[in-house]
Amino acid sequence: MQLVLLGPPGAGKGTVASTVASRTGVHHISTGDLFRAAVKARTALGRRVANLLQSGSLVPDSLTISLVREHLSTLDGREGFILDGFPRTVPQAAALAGFAQIDAAVELIVPEQEVVRRLSGRRTCARCGATFNVASMPANAAIFCAPVQRDDDDPEAIRRRLHAYRAQTTPVLEYYRSTDLLRGIDGTATPNEVADRMQAVLAD
Ligand code: AP5
Ligand code: MG
Repeated sequence: MQLVLLGPPGAGKGTVASTVASRTGVHHISTGDLFRAAVKARTALGRRVANLLQSGSLVPDSLTISLVREHLSTLDGREGFILDGFPRTVPQAAALAGFAQIDAAVELIVPEQEVVRRLSGRRTCARCGATFNVASMPANAAIFCAPVQRDDDDPEAIRRRLHAYRAQTTPVLEYYRSTDLLRGIDGTATPNEVADRMQAVLAD
């Protein structure tokens, strides 16, 4: 299974991809996570993209495509993968078609009001990387984890990310619809139910 997972910022891409990956053993590849790791490690790539991430703007296609191509080349192809947050532009989708065969592109459908609510409440543990939401965070999370807010979850960066999604990523939906690879699922249920829905759609 070689999948693309699409959906606006805060739709739950990372949450559902990690659940499906742990249930099935496929690789979960998040370009956002790869960029954040590069920023944290202060690599040359990290220094180039830090300001773009913080402001909520997209990283140039050339850098993003090379990152994904290199990452996929290190995988054992038998296990499959879920690409979370890539492709985000039509040139990225066209480039991906040149180095990987995609079985399906799944769109997580969540209303904008709900994604803003989810992003505003998101916290990530600085130690273990787990993602929570203040609305559903377990009472003891603060004991085991060190919850921090992502730099790009402030209102101005959220606004810019939603704009980038509408302007640059919604054409990617059309790209996959035109090749009959697009499958839409309602992302407004519990994380486990959304993962069930994703697996059911893929099994069809
Ligand atoms: P990226 O990290 O991909 O950010 P994003 O697309 O904006 O998406 P998020 O990670 O914010 O949300 P998500 O959909 O993963 O939701 P999550 O599961 O966390 O990209 C960051 C930046 O990197 C970009 O702005 C850009 O600069 C750069 N970049 C990355 N890829 C790029 C590319 N291809 N090209 C160019 N630049 C690129 O969930 C959100 C919250 O909701 C959490 O609190 C979670 O607990 C909660 N939640 C999740 N599911 C549910 C549910 N079912 N019900 C209730 N709450 C839920
Ligand atoms: Mg994510």
